[in-house]
Amino acid sequence: MRVFVTGASGWIGSTVVPELIGAGHQVLGLARSDSSAQAVAAMGAEVLRGDLDDLDTLRAGAADCDGVIHLAFGHDFTRFDDSVRADARAVEAFGAALEGTGKPLVIASGTPAMPGKVATEQDRPEFPPGSPMAGRAVTARAVLDLASRGVRSSVVGLPRTVHGEGDQGFVSWLIADAREKGSAGYVGDGSHRWPAVHVTDAGRLFRLAVEQAPAGSMLHATGDEGVAIGDIAEVIGRHLGLPRASRPAEDFGFLGSVLSIDQPASSTLTRELLDWRPAGPGLLEDLEKGHYFGDSPSR
Ligand SMILES: NC(=O)c1ccc[n+]([C@@H]2O[C@H](COP(=O)([O-])OP(=O)(O)OC[C@H]3O[C@@H](n4cnc5c(N)ncnc54)[C@H](OP(=O)(O)O)[C@@H]3O)[C@@H](O)[C@H]2O)c1
Repeated sequence: MRVFVTGASGWIGSTVVPELIGAGHQVLGLARSDSSAQAVAAMGAEVLRGDLDDLDTLRAGAADCDGVIHLAFGHDFTRFDDSVRADARAVEAFGAALEGTGKPLVIASGTPAMPGKVATEQDRPEFPPGSPMAGRAVTARAVLDLASRGVRSSVVGLPRTVHGEGDQGFVSWLIADAREKGSAGYVGDGSHRWPAVHVTDAGRLFRLAVEQAPAGSMLHATGDEGVAIGDIAEVIGRHLGLPRASRPAEDFGFLGSVLSIDQPASSTLTRELLDWRPAGPGLLEDLEKGHYFGDSPSR
């Protein structure tokens, strides 16, 4: 297949592109800057220059390929609503370009937070009102609905942390926060759980989805169903020589709401559907390797 990948230069894209090429596919990667274009070309992909707001470019990329994997997202958390709107417009453009073709459209989203239960692929993508992810759940549902318009659409629900060497996501943020505040923090009694996956396993799932996922599939990319945030704080504190401490949600800025909910998610149905077998280390095992505790990550 020839696959159009947005966000090809990003953390997950940098695993998805080699995964696709290694399996014999060709990749056309969207890049909005010279440095991103260089990174995409260095992985062996063809580059399509453009921004997520260039909807004509997105439609052209989709029309030129056998399928789309959409990973690009602006992670400036001070402008999160703008990013959600740009994402929704991009997905709408892909839907229009792929309508009636039967081609696959795979997008990245999040596993839902379902208070009081383990979320499964049968749960509709949903987040509590006010959660930063609520708008993204609306986009995810629109993508699943594209199945009725002749698009082989699927949504990969990613857990709260896609970890591995080089990760600059929420776990790196927690480590930077611990260094700054002098304690490895969590909210409440530390029993709230985050699902997690190693980045190589996430990359493989995106490949399997674009190759095989039936139209309208909700998929969960969870290797760990749920890791207690207090346990994450324990490992962070031990590596940094800092105590573990419960702190109010407001102390964690935008991440406070993400730390305040128990949000385990299973991937049993995804594993069965696509024969996906996570093989990378779990989150705590990965943290113990020490690569997260080198230079202080940027925030
Ligand atoms: N990492 C996680 O733990 C995690 C967890 C849950 C969900 N997700 C979701 O998974 C997807 C991929 O995440 P990631 O961790 O790989 O993100 P990332 O490392 O921040 O990469 C984002 C990618 O999007 C591109 N991008 C951002 N804004 C763009 C724009 N306006 N036009 C064109 N390209 C743009 C970036 O390009 P540049 O290289 O030019 O900046 C980069 O390639 C996102 O939807 C993310 O929200 C990630």
